Amino acid sequence: MTIQAVRGVRDILPGETVKWQRVEDTARRTFETYGYEEIRLPLFERTELFARGIGEVTDIVQKEMYTFPDRGGESITLRPEATASLLRAYIEHGLHVLPKPVRLYTLGAMFRYERPQAGRYRQFHQLDVEALGDEHPAVDAEVIAMLVEFFRRLDLTAPRVLLEVNTLGDAVCRPRYREELTHYLEAHAAALCAECRERIARNPLRVLDCKKPECRPVLDAAPALADYLCDPCREHFARVRAYLDALGIAHAVAPRLVRGLDYYVRTTFELTTSELGAQNAVAGGGRYDGLIERLGGPRDPGIGFAVGIERIILMLSEASAPPQEMSRPFALLIPLGEAALRALLPVARHLRAHARPLRVELGHGERRLPRELERAAKLGVGYTVIVGDEELARGEAKLRDMKSRQERSVPLLEVAGELLALAGRG
Ligand code: HAM
Repeated sequence: MTIQAVRGVRDILPGETVKWQRVEDTARRTFETYGYEEIRLPLFERTELFARGIGEVTDIVQKEMYTFPDRGGESITLRPEATASLLRAYIEHGLHVLPKPVRLYTLGAMFRYERPQAGRYRQFHQLDVEALGDEHPAVDAEVIAMLVEFFRRLDLTAPRVLLEVNTLGDAVCRPRYREELTHYLEAHAAALCAECRERIARNPLRVLDCKKPECRPVLDAAPALADYLCDPCREHFARVRAYLDALGIAHAVAPRLVRGLDYYVRTTFELTTSELGAQNAVAGGGRYDGLIERLGGPRDPGIGFAVGIERIILMLSEASAPPQEMSRPFALLIPLGEAALRALLPVARHLRAHARPLRVELGHGERRLPRELERAAKLGVGYTVIVGDEELARGEAKLRDMKSRQERSVPLLEVAGELLALAGRG
């Protein structure tokens, strides 16, 4: 029996990696223009970091983590997100002494034991950005603007993706709202689904997020957090929105936008799409003032977001992929026999080591010409260079233009120069 990949885990095949590279390059270039620096983090951490960081009562911590004891008996968890690890590193390495906000980004695989479906996997990849140590609402607006700019550079703009923003209040105003909401939900529990009923005591704000039609009437009439905000939270949100307006960034206020992680206060936001079926968030984030302190660090505020790379890839059409040409070799060098192979080895080396290298492939000399030409056609190369015993005796090679099918003889010593000239790199 053959062994297959684990459920919810995907291979990213060569045709697709071109798109991944484009997304990653665009992210790096965008983030770097805004002054972000890359940090690379481990794939696993002590379980306690996520329990404390993400929140004990979240679905992620309760149901979705890959947690196991290592051989030394320590409880280890494969990271379900990057924020907690990044803050751990920020604290551990004293990065708070850097000029603030400290702007960091990272990218890589995350792991959540979710029910796999299109756009939802058990191993997936995020681009994660965090701005630490500054609570000014201009930082919120800049972080959101950068997210939107990154999507714009990938030609993903409204109406394909929409920006939703909300505020969740803070430790001053949210507890009172939470209490009111709990009362309200308990009074209407009979009209809610089983999952919502079970969540009321645990995480009442999360109940607002339920997508089931049967729950909508009760949830739509629930008390709104906006009516309970304290003045500083109200002011913060108004300023974030004013800066977004000044930047010309269209956004909708989504009062029911509550996120799946417990660390958020004040600003939260998501980029949503209707192109991915049940998965409508391509990116999400928010402010998490207080979290760094809870993890044992300084009283630094923070805000950030993460983008699901698989979801962006699903949205990028074939047309927006770079032309296939880029991934094709320019030439196939075909030695017919051992002596010819030795003559062509330095030619291939020269072309690959050139200041503006050419992508070339070299046969090994033991295949017959018709098979090599078939291979050249399959690879889609522009030129073939053929060297058999006769050519070798004359110190020449046959250079064939695969498109026009024209063939000419070129001195072996000039083959590399000819190919470079044809590629415009002479
Ligand atoms: P999150 O909303 O849990 O936030 O995830 C961010 C994005 O990761 C989602 O919008 C989605 O695109 C992608 N994603 C999440 N789960 C999956 C999955 N199972 N399969 C494929 N894609 C997925 C966070 O993780 C926070 N750490 C974001 C953040 C950073 N907040 C502040 N800083």
